[in-house]
Amino acid sequence: LDNGLMKTPPMGWLAWERFRCNIDCQNDPKNCISENLFIDMADRLFEDGWVELGYNFVNIDDCWSLKKRDQQGRLQPDPERFPGGIKHLSRYMHDRGLKLGIYADMGTYTCMGYPGTPLDKVEIDAQTFANWEVDMLKYDGCYSNATDQAMGYPLMSKALNATGRPIAYSCSWPAYQGGLPPKVNYTQLGEICNLWRNYGDIQDSWSSVLMIIDWVFENQDVLTPAAGPGRWNDPDMLIVGDFGLSMDQSRSQMALWAIMAAPLFMSNDLRTVSSEARSILQNKMVIRINQDELGIQGRRILKEKSNIEVFWRPLSNDYSALVFFSRRTDMPYHYQTSLSKLNYTAGFYKIHDVFTDETKVVNESTVLDVPVNPTGVVMFYVSAKLQIHHFSRGGKLLGA
Ligand code: GLA
Repeated sequence: LDNGLMKTPPMGWLAWERFRCNIDCQNDPKNCISENLFIDMADRLFEDGWVELGYNFVNIDDCWSLKKRDQQGRLQPDPERFPGGIKHLSRYMHDRGLKLGIYADMGTYTCMGYPGTPLDKVEIDAQTFANWEVDMLKYDGCYSNATDQAMGYPLMSKALNATGRPIAYSCSWPAYQGGLPPKVNYTQLGEICNLWRNYGDIQDSWSSVLMIIDWVFENQDVLTPAAGPGRWNDPDMLIVGDFGLSMDQSRSQMALWAIMAAPLFMSNDLRTVSSEARSILQNKMVIRINQDELGIQGRRILKEKSNIEVFWRPLSNDYSALVFFSRRTDMPYHYQTSLSKLNYTAGFYKIHDVFTDETKVVNESTVLDVPVNPTGVVMFYVSAKLQIHHFSRGGKLLGA
């Protein structure tokens, strides 16, 4: 969507996967969906170095509202759980360089049974969100049909624009239509939405992450051309820092989400996230790859019989990123390749391993021995071709 927003994939935190529809503030005050939870997460983002890295959205998901609209027909937050109101939260975010996202649903109800925003409520709800100074809307699709969605998603895009407030727009529409043409029109989505969910909900497990990876890369010919600055495929939240992934699997999710130019919305408990998980989520080079300004979504370029897969994403200034991913279940596998086997042209390149921080200069035929752990990845940030004057005639490296 050409509204000037999200020229690179959005980053931040989203409540759903980790905190779901826990509204039991009596028994679980620290973890229930309430303003305290969003304030806690904002404080963590602000104080623990996340904002500087780009993680600046704090997004409310389902279960924030009362079951009834107010007398003017407006959505209203549950006053027991959000005593300050949504505007109080958006102010809290803005004072700290953060942004606030909110959630609504195109059907009669949200997925958890709260009031929906069907066609006749689109304008009033868009205006309410703008009045609250919200910065992003996730517009879900439960309890709606294909006909209503075809009207409702473009209508909400217009209504948000008409408020005059820049509000980024996340559409769940394609996920409710199977994610593929002809039911899904990616050209239209790119015109009306900043991001869109294509596929089912992520859960806190490796099998869930794998299903998403499989679906995205099986359908990469359809999906990659749809993405670009201001319009992103959304394979759903990062679950790094939760319960379901090993550290290798966490690196795999992070690396492949960067290759996919995916939005990086963490859904974890930033108050207790381990230092290992944090270092993966805060890896500057992976973030730089994810946030590359060209905004070209990467692709799977090789599926080997050894169960190693290779992914590649072109980056600005002729840089690129490579990921070697192992689907094996035995032991670290030494995958042997070279840049020429991965379609690079002849020359010298600097390779930076983003997780070990090792660098080396290689040419196209240098044998690369890449040890990949089961369910893990190795990720390289590859420079543009180095200038030949850095080398002596003997081929010995002088100063690259
Ligand atoms: C759907 C969405 C999820 C989440 C829930 C909330 O399942 O896909 O991301 O928003 O609804 O109920």
